[in-house]
Amino acid sequence: MSIRITRRGALFGASGLAFAAAACSSGPRRPEPEPQTGPFRHGVASGEPDQNSVVLWTAITDDAGGEYVFQLAADETFESVIFEEREERTYVTSNAISTFKTIATGLQPGTAYFYRMVFNGISSPVGRTKTLPVGAVPRFIMAVCSCSNYPAGYFNAYRELANTPDLDLVMHLGDYIYEYSADGYASDDAENMDRVVDPLHELNSYGDYARRHALYKTDPDLQAAHAAAPWLMIWDDHEVANDAWSTGAENHNEGEGEYSQRVYNAMLAYHDWNPTREPADQIGMTRIAEIGDLATLVVTESRHVARHQPMDFSTFPIADDADPDDPANQQAVAEWRATEINRDDRELLGTEQIGQIADAFGAAADKPWRLLGGQVVMGRIEAPNMIEALPGWLKFIVSKTDDLAWGYLQRSQFNIPLNLDAWDGYVAERERLYDAVRANGGDMIAFAGDSHTFWTNQLMDDEGRRIGYEFGTTSITSPSPFERIPAPGISFPDIIENGNRDVIRLNDRDKGFIRVTLTPDAMESDFVTVSTIKRRGYSAGSDSRWRVTRGANGLELDAI
Ligand SMILES: [Fe+2]
Repeated sequence: MSIRITRRGALFGASGLAFAAAACSSGPRRPEPEPQTGPFRHGVASGEPDQNSVVLWTAITDDAGGEYVFQLAADETFESVIFEEREERTYVTSNAISTFKTIATGLQPGTAYFYRMVFNGISSPVGRTKTLPVGAVPRFIMAVCSCSNYPAGYFNAYRELANTPDLDLVMHLGDYIYEYSADGYASDDAENMDRVVDPLHELNSYGDYARRHALYKTDPDLQAAHAAAPWLMIWDDHEVANDAWSTGAENHNEGEGEYSQRVYNAMLAYHDWNPTREPADQIGMTRIAEIGDLATLVVTESRHVARHQPMDFSTFPIADDADPDDPANQQAVAEWRATEINRDDRELLGTEQIGQIADAFGAAADKPWRLLGGQVVMGRIEAPNMIEALPGWLKFIVSKTDDLAWGYLQRSQFNIPLNLDAWDGYVAERERLYDAVRANGGDMIAFAGDSHTFWTNQLMDDEGRRIGYEFGTTSITSPSPFERIPAPGISFPDIIENGNRDVIRLNDRDKGFIRVTLTPDAMESDFVTVSTIKRRGYSAGSDSRWRVTRGANGLELDAI
């Protein structure tokens, strides 16, 4: 089934949403930087800069019409306004919330600007943005983040990200919102933290998704992160539904209606509430950011256009408790990998998108850095034999308390990938991507979200040739899957790093983001952590720092 989405082409326009403002919180627990009353309660945002323009966004609560003026200036006091867009509107009845976007044009490359909306003489908060540079670029600073789950905790990592000096770009790799109901995933502490989601039910209609976006945008730490720098955003699955593919999702059933309608609803709300340039079909979104002569960054769409249904273990060919030493069982699992998981026609990005990556990297073959922003982890990660690795007491507890985890532990005695929703479930296409990258300059640096853990991986093809390195960012708040198995004294990172050639570093605990500093000679990734997400107060730290340089035999990686 193909998804047909046709909708307005104009970027600038009030949505006219007919719903009440989201208002779950009983009030801030510390002085908030942004107003919670008045017309501007959702902050401002900018996004998808190129060398001469950038998208500006804001929302107005209780919009009864009047004069709307988007302004962008070289200075924070708006004495020298570079771009201004003025509009007057009259409504018969006021909108509960209207969202606004425009593209500020006529800007200089590599230049920081400030922007706001003035509505009937009232100014919104002021945001800082920046165009992409041209020519020689001595330094470019980027924050890479993903997986911000409102009920799971406070967005302290967004606050820390906003504090990054001289930030050029924020790359959000998806799970910007989550679709679950108030008693769904990672919501155990939500009531205590005043972070119960709105609406209370699972999202499905346009109004549902828009209300959830509106709730998120009331968060002061998210507002600060948007106001600090332009964002280059791409969705993962939870902007629609868990483990989404091109025609369905794990968290969608027939009773919830036509899936293509749900995708349409979700994407409409996503674009209304975020500073994105809107593709004609809403879902085709390969973004290419030319960072002067320094780098080319390609950001891919991997959920709604090409992706085949993720594999799961329902097709596992033998019983979970089958004897791992029986050659017949080993053979059955090997055949399952070859015929099911490694099937040649399984796609994640699709042929067209891989062609776009090849073209963009080919054109950037003379640049020091070719960067790929994806969603799911690309590195090859085998589940280590957990039955061998874990102590008897822990296995006993898991076997008695968690059927899902126990099945997984038992299957880990056979050679199986850690996560079939990631690139390890699309092995043949990963090789096709690696071939395309190798033919167009090679030496790729890939970034991933989705996993809620930090990763440093080397990317190796089937023949053991290194294609590049991968840095996976942890979540802003979403829980690590390893938290499912409480194991005092057990280091899952040690077990997984020791059992996998391609995994150099796994941090399975911390929340945070990656701060990337690019220069012509080196690329540094700092895994920034926050001490807690359960209170607003936090201290920032660093899990690890990595430097990539270019040596005689390609890229070289060092821990610093
Ligand atoms: Fe996530």
